[in-house]
Amino acid sequence: MASIFFSPAASSAAVLPRVSFRPRSAFHSQRRSCMFGVRCSYANAGVSDEYTSNTIDVVADVRSEKVVVIGGSGFVGSAICKAAVSKGIEIISVSRSGRPTYSSSWVDQVTWVPGDVFYLNWDEVLVGATAVVSTVGGFGSEEQMKRINGEANIVAVNAAYDFGIPKFVLISVHDYNLPSFLLSSSYFTGKREAESAVLSKFPRSGVVLRPGFIYGKRRVDGFEIPLDLVGEPVEKILSALGNFIKPLSSIPASDIFLAPPVSVDDLALATINAIGDDDMFGVFTIEQIKEAAAKVRA
Ligand SMILES: NC(=O)c1ccc[n+]([C@@H]2O[C@H](COP(=O)([O-])OP(=O)(O)OC[C@H]3O[C@@H](n4cnc5c(N)ncnc54)[C@H](OP(=O)(O)O)[C@@H]3O)[C@@H](O)[C@H]2O)c1
Repeated sequence: MASIFFSPAASSAAVLPRVSFRPRSAFHSQRRSCMFGVRCSYANAGVSDEYTSNTIDVVADVRSEKVVVIGGSGFVGSAICKAAVSKGIEIISVSRSGRPTYSSSWVDQVTWVPGDVFYLNWDEVLVGATAVVSTVGGFGSEEQMKRINGEANIVAVNAAYDFGIPKFVLISVHDYNLPSFLLSSSYFTGKREAESAVLSKFPRSGVVLRPGFIYGKRRVDGFEIPLDLVGEPVEKILSALGNFIKPLSSIPASDIFLAPPVSVDDLALATINAIGDDDMFGVFTIEQIKEAAAKVRA
């Protein structure tokens, strides 16, 4: 708890306030006002010739965040870690590779835990956590995709549930309006099984974000691939076309071309919003991800 003492500027000062408060980070100050419980007491505001230590005590109930990002070293995970650090959120990243090889000031502010979600000692990372974010997922054989998109996330959801973590955020995927035979790929069935686990274990707090193509600077083997060179203009064109292309969305698989890309920074900000907003839970579309991001950016 921090205390600030204001010295009397003159002996005639009516009130010499002592203000005690627990500081709120910039992130927390964006929360709904009900998260900010303030108790005030104003003691003896009368004027006295003598120095009296009249006090104003302000105690704010502040929730500090400690967030575990599974896959914090990946493309999306690192953007989430970076954004969270900039908002003063304590971050622990778990991934098999641990700390990334590149250096950056935000990297030094994350606790990097090397570990595989299937063999993790959850005690090491989940005790005291206020939220878990999973970015685990990817492509491969049908068996690999089932394991990484489905089972790995379900293990994480169950662990978070067992440890009583209040919030779980899953980075999932848009369905691109694909016909059902294409959605039977283990990439999508795994994602949907993971989503079901989040929504059943965290019915009033779980968040599933379903982005389409995610653009930004993706690091691969020490090189940066500027996906934003494609993603950003496409996002702008699709957003300018807006209502003209909406009727086309009833055509199966049309979203492969028409689903707007999402910047990795917007996805990260939407995740930050999800972590801090108790009223944000359920499944979020591309459009809703952008809206959630805008709330944090504002
Ligand atoms: N990129 C896109 O355009 C896009 C679009 C829609 C949805 N998504 C979804 O968004 C999520 C993030 O995508 P991304 O592009 O950021 O993927 P990514 O760069 O491959 O990141 C995945 C992260 O998960 C970690 N990970 C994988 N298996 C793990 C395990 N068994 N235990 C612990 N950590 C593990 C990886 O680190 P290690 O390998 O070191 O363990 C990495 O940090 C995925 O679920 C993906 O399906 C991506």
